[in-house]
Amino acid sequence: MRSFASDNYSGVHPEIMKAIMDANEDHMSSYGADPVSADAVELFRDIFGKQAQIFFLTTGTATNTLILRHLCKSWNSVICSEDAHINVDECGAPENMGIKLMLAETVNGKITVETIKPLVPSEADVHRAQPAVISITQNTELGTLYSVDEIKSICDFAHSKGLYVHMDGARIANAAAALGASFKEMTVDCGVDVLSFGGTKNGCMCAEAAVFITPEAGENFEYLRKQSMQLISKMRYVGAQFKALLTNELWKRNAAHSNTQARKLAEKAGAIEGVKITRPVEANGVFAIIPAHAVEKLQERFPFYVWDEQSGEVRWMTSWSTTDDDIDNFCAALTEII
Ligand SMILES: Cc1ncc(COP(=O)(O)O)c(C=O)c1O
Repeated sequence: MRSFASDNYSGVHPEIMKAIMDANEDHMSSYGADPVSADAVELFRDIFGKQAQIFFLTTGTATNTLILRHLCKSWNSVICSEDAHINVDECGAPENMGIKLMLAETVNGKITVETIKPLVPSEADVHRAQPAVISITQNTELGTLYSVDEIKSICDFAHSKGLYVHMDGARIANAAAALGASFKEMTVDCGVDVLSFGGTKNGCMCAEAAVFITPEAGENFEYLRKQSMQLISKMRYVGAQFKALLTNELWKRNAAHSNTQARKLAEKAGAIEGVKITRPVEANGVFAIIPAHAVEKLQERFPFYVWDEQSGEVRWMTSWSTTDDDIDNFCAALTEII
């Protein structure tokens, strides 16, 4: 099967698979006390600073939810976009852990200081949940990007109100490759406090990391991770993946390829009569409206998701493994079906 459903449909990149195989020698200490995981943590610290606290987990949902749980007291809330994965696609995991989400008005997946402001009370009010965190997604669920300046202005505002900034970076590699900015420029230098760093969508498997750039925010997180059943016993296999991803810029090669393929797909599909590209294509997601009769027939040949049942908008994702043939074959099928 070839698909445009999600970057999760792609396999594991061969260099990552080799790293897993290479780590599969002899016995090693468990629960992260192995040399391979230690090397990976050092690579993260080379990027995010020696003070950063790094924790590996297996899913993006667990990473986001446990970070937010850790940053919030029971009376706190988290401000996010109405399109945020934590709001729409985590089956209420944050709410199930007692986290109140407050939704800011959103344009093309992005929130701004102006749309956040009305949710932050000017004075403490005992009757209201008190915001503790602003969570943004980079790149957004709608395939758009926050510029470095936009991230910085959200961080400046958050810090002026005593709030933390969390970035859901399930696709942060795609964002960095597209913006031509380093991970550090998009996070540390802007003032982001905590990052969910995604590996899975960029060629890894079950490899996500909670990166506490502001180290005190991460204090004792290891206990919450264990209590929440996310402390991985054979951690070396996750460590090996991150070590490979962060070596020789594999993260950038994978993400840049994925982004390029999205642009090619948007150009080629967008030129077909009856197809309208609906969002700016800034990373590896393409959103479109196609004739309603074509959706199911096309899905039978190339799985993808209908993003919005009401408008009929569909989402096509590319990945490190999307080939030119995939795009040509998909567009040929689309033309034929229309
Ligand atoms: C923006 C975003 N955050 C987080 C995730 C991670 O979710 P999962 O729990 O499926 O690994 C995803 C996956 O689709 C995502 O798109």
